[in-house]
Parts: sequence; structure tokens; C-alpha cells
Amino acid sequence: MRKQIAAANWKMNCTYQQGETLLAGILKTKPALQAHQLAIVAVPFPYLVMAKTKLGDEKNLYVAAQNCYQKKSGAYTGEVSADMLQSIGIGYCIVGHSERREYFNESNQDLAAKVDLLLGAAIQPIFCCGESLSVREASQQNEWVARQLEESLFHLDADQLANIVIAYEPIWAIGTGKTASAAQAQEMHAFIRSVLAKKYGQATADQISILYGGSVKGANAAEIFAGPDVDGGLVGGASLNAEEFAVIISALK
Ligand code: PGA
Repeated sequence: MRKQIAAANWKMNCTYQQGETLLAGILKTKPALQAHQLAIVAVPFPYLVMAKTKLGDEKNLYVAAQNCYQKKSGAYTGEVSADMLQSIGIGYCIVGHSERREYFNESNQDLAAKVDLLLGAAIQPIFCCGESLSVREASQQNEWVARQLEESLFHLDADQLANIVIAYEPIWAIGTGKTASAAQAQEMHAFIRSVLAKKYGQATADQISILYGGSVKGANAAEIFAGPDVDGGLVGGASLNAEEFAVIISALK
């Protein structure tokens, strides 16, 4: 079975001490994970080592970064490289979250460079894609998302692609309390898988975990995750509460 993943995205929230408390809560409340199920916690950079130390030995529970820079090293004051993340043992990194695309002008080409550097550092990218409300209202969401995948991922070979986790996050559903319906999520996830299958073959496409993100919470996770092409979620707001995140983990297939 494909990996089923509940990924927490803390974004720019929590002090160090609040982060410690939240991680302790996750350790206490999270249900046991089956072999094919993972929980991932994407914390701010200054907390990565602390989070790794705290969660270190826990089975199928991983720490992720929320971003990295698109250059290998050098005079880029304030930035963090994939190699730096590798050197502290980080295994996953979110790439191309819509907030980074919007507020930091990250282009599909920048994201392709980040993906290459992460894979080169043996870190699995959690690659975010998704359309705005105006794109959806114009019924252009499929073309939009296909282009994001093509321009940032399709230079990879099939072995490299197998190390990517995809997160479909319709921008109109992020932090708005508005989720895509379970049917809308499944429809887009099936489309994404078909785009991958066309380029890489069905067997490769079938290995890729595709997460849904956008106002996932305890109350709606099971319904959304039930879609056959929905392999879990990338969760913002609701992941800042350990009990709520535990409910979301327990909704994984
Ligand atoms: P949300 O955020 O769950 O708060 O909508 C999801 C995300 O942006 O990853």
C-alpha cells in the first residue's frame, strides 16, 4: 500500500517553549502508526534539532523543514540550504507552499531547483501545488496544476520522482475554513495521478503519496482521506493542537 501521511505544517507559529509543549502533546496523544502510515511535523528552522531530539526514536514519526533555498551554498544571507538540513538529519522538506509562492515570489523554476538540491541531499520534498479561487472559477484548475507539476518535477527521472510526496492544496481552502469537498479532492488527486502516469507510467504514479491540504481538521479528515487517491493530509491550523492532530492521524487509511 502507498504511504499514508499526516503532515503538520506549523508555519510561523509557536515559541520554542510552545513548540516543546506541542511536541510532547503529540507524543502523548498520537495513535500507534501502522507500517504504511507516517506522521510528519514541519517546524520552524530554529526548532528542527530540538524536534528531532524529542521525536527521535518514535517509529514512523518524522521532522520536516518548511522550506530551503534554491542554491547549494554561498552568499545568501538568512537562507538555509538542503545540505544544512541533511547535516542535521532532516528527512523531509515542504517545497512550494502557496504562501511562499505568493509572498516570496517563488516560481515553478525556483521550485525545480529546490527539488533537485533536496533530492541530492537525500531529503524527500513535500511538493505543494494548487490553484487560486479565480483559476477554479474559470475551470482552469487542471491545466494550472498540471503546469506546476510539469515545470517543477518533470525533469526528474522515475526513480527520483518516487521520492516526492505531492500535496494538493487549493489556495481558496487554506486557512479559510472552506475545504474542498471530498469529491473535489478525489477528483483532483485522480487527475494529478493521471498526469504522473502519462509521463512516468502507472506503476510509478501509483507509488506516489498525494496529500490534501486546506482546512483539514479532526471532524473532516476521515471523509476527505477516504478518497482512493487521497493519501492523507498536510495540515496547518488544526495541527497546532495535539489532540486534534491525533484525530487526523487516526483518520489515515
Ligand atoms: P490549513 O493550512 O490547514 O490551516 O488550511 C494548510 C496548509 O497551508 O498547509
